[in-house]
Amino acid sequence: MISATEFKQRRHALMGRMDGNSIAIIPSANEVMRNSDVDYPFRQDSDFYYLTGFDEPEAVLVLIPGSEVAETLLFCRAKDQKMELWNGYRCGPDDAPTRYGVDDAFPIDDINEILPSLLEGRAKTYYAIGRNKILDESIAGWVNDLRGRARSGVQIPTDFSDLNHHLHDLRLFKSAAEQAIMRQAGEISARAHCRAMQLCEPGMYEYQLEADILHEFHQSGARLPAYNSIVGSGDNACVLHYVENRRKMEAGDLVLIDAGCELEYYAADITRTFPVNGVFTQEQAALYRIVLEAQKAAIASVKAGAHWNVVHDTTVDVIVDGLMELKLLKGSREEIIEKRRYSDFYMHRAGHWLGMDVHDVGAYRIDDHWRCLEPGMTFTVEPGIYVSPSNSDVDARWRGIGIRIEDNVLVTKSGCDVMTDGVPKEIDDIQRLMAG
Ligand code: GLY
Ligand code: MN
Ligand code: MN
Repeated sequence: MISATEFKQRRHALMGRMDGNSIAIIPSANEVMRNSDVDYPFRQDSDFYYLTGFDEPEAVLVLIPGSEVAETLLFCRAKDQKMELWNGYRCGPDDAPTRYGVDDAFPIDDINEILPSLLEGRAKTYYAIGRNKILDESIAGWVNDLRGRARSGVQIPTDFSDLNHHLHDLRLFKSAAEQAIMRQAGEISARAHCRAMQLCEPGMYEYQLEADILHEFHQSGARLPAYNSIVGSGDNACVLHYVENRRKMEAGDLVLIDAGCELEYYAADITRTFPVNGVFTQEQAALYRIVLEAQKAAIASVKAGAHWNVVHDTTVDVIVDGLMELKLLKGSREEIIEKRRYSDFYMHRAGHWLGMDVHDVGAYRIDDHWRCLEPGMTFTVEPGIYVSPSNSDVDARWRGIGIRIEDNVLVTKSGCDVMTDGVPKEIDDIQRLMAG
């Protein structure tokens, strides 16, 4: 659990990076309609949640470092007995300061009266434009009103800037509490993949395996997946973002499952690929071994001080060597790598930051150089090989095989911890689990 103290520390760390005499305006997510009278499940905006722990829509956090009146303010929905009876509990501004540790709170309906006076006299406004249309327009309106009062000596904010650079750099480094939640999300997700391996058999539909994954998430307290689960069998394993999940699986297919739960706003992101009938064919095993070797070599390359791109380059080296050995790639190794001729088989990068968002925030490059890894960073390692069913350059026996293996790692001082090692990835271990 993230404590109220930690949320407060985050706000203060961010305010410490803001310029003098500035103000930051950070909106919550809003509810989104799915179809008539039905909303998508509400998920708070990650930036907003990171700074508040507040999980209601229609809210705005305002930070004013150095203010003698209130440095942290929350605008939120007012209490409303009738609305709460229909749609559920609201915290309300009276309780927000004690519950969420902000200095003051106001009803969101009063924001038009209160916020313009807070903007007045500020040299700089931090606001990520383009993500919340209503607030974009409100802020433009407030600034225009202030301009209209310039002759009476009102100081108008002229410098607008995005806060994300500072905020996302904070989010990139996970605290002990965040690491503990992410480990737990990894354990739950690993158990879900084990369950899918154990229950899979020819004749099942992909969505039934998806149901087994979701079953384990829910039984373990994770109400939502961190992203739409991919359950791709046969040729579908070669479609990177396949989410239809409606094919009937057959003996002889591989099935690729890319699924992870979201626990207390933190994501896990695991991929395993295994044979529907529990036994790899020769071709499947040959390609699988290459991906596994690439993934293990990449994980071994993770250590503080290594460049981010070393992890990807390691996977490319192993995959190119393996595909050359199987004669799926021919010609000069140097040229294959330089011209990225392997990208017919391996077209994505080896991983991404992982955290509150599955593709988490944080810069990968700094001043035109790949970033160096540091303790506390968390990311995925997920090489793959996908032989398109329509690839006429290769022998038919390889076509339609898609394999990815993905784990989540935490950079430590001496290397890394794999947070998702509760699900097997060695061929023998998978076959044994499926047989048992
Ligand atoms: N599940 C999304 C990804 O692996 O990047
Ligand atoms: Mn994934
Ligand atoms: Mn991933």
